[in-house]
Amino acid sequence: MSLSVFSTEIYRAKLGGPAQGALIGDIAGAIRQLAKDDAAGRRWCAENGYGGYTSYASLDDLSWRDSTFAELQARLQKHVGAFARALAFEMQGRKLTCDSMWVNLLKPGAAHTAHIHPGSVISGTIYIDLPPGASAIRFEDPRLGLMMAAPQVKRTAPPARQRFVSVAPKPGEVVLWESWLRHEVPRNGAKAERLSVSFNYS
Ligand SMILES: [Fe+2]
Repeated sequence: MSLSVFSTEIYRAKLGGPAQGALIGDIAGAIRQLAKDDAAGRRWCAENGYGGYTSYASLDDLSWRDSTFAELQARLQKHVGAFARALAFEMQGRKLTCDSMWVNLLKPGAAHTAHIHPGSVISGTIYIDLPPGASAIRFEDPRLGLMMAAPQVKRTAPPARQRFVSVAPKPGEVVLWESWLRHEVPRNGAKAERLSVSFNYS
């Protein structure tokens, strides 16, 4: 008999709420508009080799600026709460709050290298437009750097045993993880832009 310990959870759910399709459509429009209007963001992307547009460094308080993103943030709260409960966080009556939200428009052929989100508790993304061939998000076993001589794992092993796990979301799907979990977006193999909104809760 064995005991399974130190599990890593990745939360997935449909955003939900009234007229979800219309909200996702509005967000897609807002992302494309921001990509046109946000000159400071475009400059940051050019200087930092981001293949497309992200408002990460220029406009990360979108829920204050735009009612569409405020509505999105309101709908995310129940998902973040549910995930915190699943993780058995001792919240001492407090609640996790969104401290940044930004948009991503990844061009065909572009990627986003592996990273974590320092200073936050839960991070996540909602997927807005995923044309055929758009990249999944790939998570890395946080113990990888400690594994020394650990053997490779069989390809057929379940996700809980793999060193890397890809999640291929659908538009309107929310994916949450603990902010320390390293992740990347491999090369966007779609012929069109991959749109998403990311956020941090602390
Ligand atoms: Fe990220």
